Amino acid sequence: MTLPLSNRVASMAESATLAMAAKAREFKARGIDVISLSLGEPDFKTPKHIQQGAKDAIEEGKYFAYPPVAGYQDFREAIANKLQSENNIPCSSSNIVVSNGAKQSIANVMYALVDPGDEVIVFSPYWVSYTALIELAEGVPVFVKGSIENDFKATADQLRKAISAKTKAIIFSSPCNPTGSVFSKAELEAIAEVVKANENIFVIADEIYEHINYTEEKVSLASLPGMFQRTITVNGFAKGFAMTGWRVGYICAPEWIAKGSAKIQGQITSANCSISQRAALTAITSDLSPTFDMARQYLERRNMVYELLKAIPGIKANLPDGAFYFFPDVSSYFGKSDGEHTIQDANDFCIYILEKAHVSLVSGAAFGNPDCVRLSYAASEENLKVAIKRISEVLAKFR
Ligand SMILES: Cc1ncc(COP(=O)(O)O)c(C=O)c1O
Repeated sequence: MTLPLSNRVASMAESATLAMAAKAREFKARGIDVISLSLGEPDFKTPKHIQQGAKDAIEEGKYFAYPPVAGYQDFREAIANKLQSENNIPCSSSNIVVSNGAKQSIANVMYALVDPGDEVIVFSPYWVSYTALIELAEGVPVFVKGSIENDFKATADQLRKAISAKTKAIIFSSPCNPTGSVFSKAELEAIAEVVKANENIFVIADEIYEHINYTEEKVSLASLPGMFQRTITVNGFAKGFAMTGWRVGYICAPEWIAKGSAKIQGQITSANCSISQRAALTAITSDLSPTFDMARQYLERRNMVYELLKAIPGIKANLPDGAFYFFPDVSSYFGKSDGEHTIQDANDFCIYILEKAHVSLVSGAAFGNPDCVRLSYAASEENLKVAIKRISEVLAKFR
């Protein structure tokens, strides 16, 4: 019997990262010691003072009712203050909508902005959920592909050529998931010029990895001249504060877009969890040293992993400037055999590595580049060393 699920569900791709994590769990359940480098999740615990913020909120007994749809006023003010002082974005609390993670923030914006048939330009490689969320809103993703030579970053020129009469929005992340690349100020300025030359096109600038940025330049697109009214800045607490499970994200957008997003959210979830908002308020109003400390450890791991990956013949890895991912090109292994198995493509490469090296990675195909795989280094130094040693050993059979 065919079950009557909607076409929407039938045509939607499953999250490749979650699918790979589930496969790794299956192996673990069979007693196999799998090292998971497939999820984009900090391996740190939420800092204690943030946990305490949640406990205090429960003790206060004031936060058990539905919160305001767009988030508590004091929290939205604190976010606006942070964006003004740290990111130079000229906003106020009326521009802020707090949601259940940055993922829901993006979903709200897609529903608020995109009509069926509207095009959304996606800088590729891209975070897996962008395309699914555009398609759920019945929009059409249009990809602008960054080359490995340009650290996978799409250029303003490529963007200009991809814009059509149907373009409604542009979306990208910087620092980028899956490549770790960071757009420089000059690159963002060039993108801003293209956007400003085209009326009624909006940019969704996903800055969720802002605190894991190893460059000197930390520039928000919305801070550039004339860009505040054209930009929806997406951010959240999952990555920089190790708060994935608390589910707190937000947008900073022109007021009419913020209102539209809040209207969608009001019907879908009512608001973000009250206690999570209080914990996140503690995070954003406290000293950021735990965040900086985590970022420093990611940097050390990045440097270590880079050296280890460089030593594996046939793997072409860029040195990422942020986030916690490597996105190496492994295509030199395609068509090669260990005597029993021929690696066909990046999916096959990941399955092979999971089965033989017991390390989970994610195929780059899910992120728009089928020559690459994504390796998350949000894992302990010890696990990273063992994982890459195992990968290197199994790949040696192909030489
Ligand atoms: C680029 C990017 N944006 C948004 C998100 C979603 O973040 P959240 O956990 O706050 O929903 C992720 C999570 O992996 C991400 O990598």
